[in-house]
Amino acid sequence: MPYALITGASKGIGKAIAFELANHKYDLLLTARSADLLQLAAEEIKKQYSVTVHFLPLDLSELNASQKLFNWCAENNFPVSVLVNNAGFGLSGFFEKILLSETMDLLQLNILVPTQLCRLFIPLLKQQTQSYILNICSTSAYQAVPMLNVYSASKAYILRFSRALKHELSDTNISVTCLSPGPTDTDWAKNANVGDKVLKMADKFNMSPQKVAAIGIRAMFKKRAEVIAGFTNKLGAFMAWLLPDSFVEKTTGKLYK
Ligand SMILES: NC(=O)c1ccc[n+]([C@@H]2O[C@H](COP(=O)([O-])OP(=O)(O)OC[C@H]3O[C@@H](n4cnc5c(N)ncnc54)[C@H](OP(=O)(O)O)[C@@H]3O)[C@@H](O)[C@H]2O)c1
Repeated sequence: MPYALITGASKGIGKAIAFELANHKYDLLLTARSADLLQLAAEEIKKQYSVTVHFLPLDLSELNASQKLFNWCAENNFPVSVLVNNAGFGLSGFFEKILLSETMDLLQLNILVPTQLCRLFIPLLKQQTQSYILNICSTSAYQAVPMLNVYSASKAYILRFSRALKHELSDTNISVTCLSPGPTDTDWAKNANVGDKVLKMADKFNMSPQKVAAIGIRAMFKKRAEVIAGFTNKLGAFMAWLLPDSFVEKTTGKLYK
């Protein structure tokens, strides 16, 4: 069976996607920074499904990390037919108060790495009968979000990049899907330092990573360009499209302040 490569597979949505793809009988290549969590995920998956799992601990925010990941796959002749660009993190607060180095790390992980991996892996993906790219975006891509400034802009990039790439690859064996989760029960919000107001609201609307992963993988196999996880999140994106930008920006900005 061809391999599915998943970034940020040590926990959260990426780990849930790994389980989902193992359920579809894919062999797996997992990467993230935490070697112990990757090993645990690999053992859990192997116990539950009869698939092969390899993992590579790697900090993708380091320069040349994408090339290292590609070399690992190429040198081992892993026949990759699914690329899931999931690793990402958020930063909340005033743009001018966030360390420039943190902002650069976010741009590296959320924008540069998925772009580099798509570019590096397309030739490998073309060698398989049918291949898929699944890029993990966010509902924050559907409007500018003050106090989540660079994060929401990074996800808007992923949305536009994925849709354009899907068209460019429409005559090939590669289908591109962009999955936008809304609040999901993972470590993301805590690590993004979003504050109590957002955490309390997220508790009411949080979806499980398993549900988000199932929606994303279903959309990927259906070759859909874009999917927003869950009805409430779809409604939110529709309202953001319908209402004046300045109203939407003021409302979301108040929430994160
Ligand atoms: N949770 C939400 O509410 C939500 C909503 C919309 C979109 N998303 C998006 O969904 C994706 C997954 O996030 P999540 O919610 O599952 O968050 P999470 O639980 O924090 O997981 C993030 C994953 O990315 C990995 N990662 C972080 N920094 C990394 C680095 N420098 N190098 C390599 N791997 C790194 C983490 O593993 P290590 O720490 O082991 O490296 C982990 O596996 C992200 O792109 C996020 O922006 C999340």
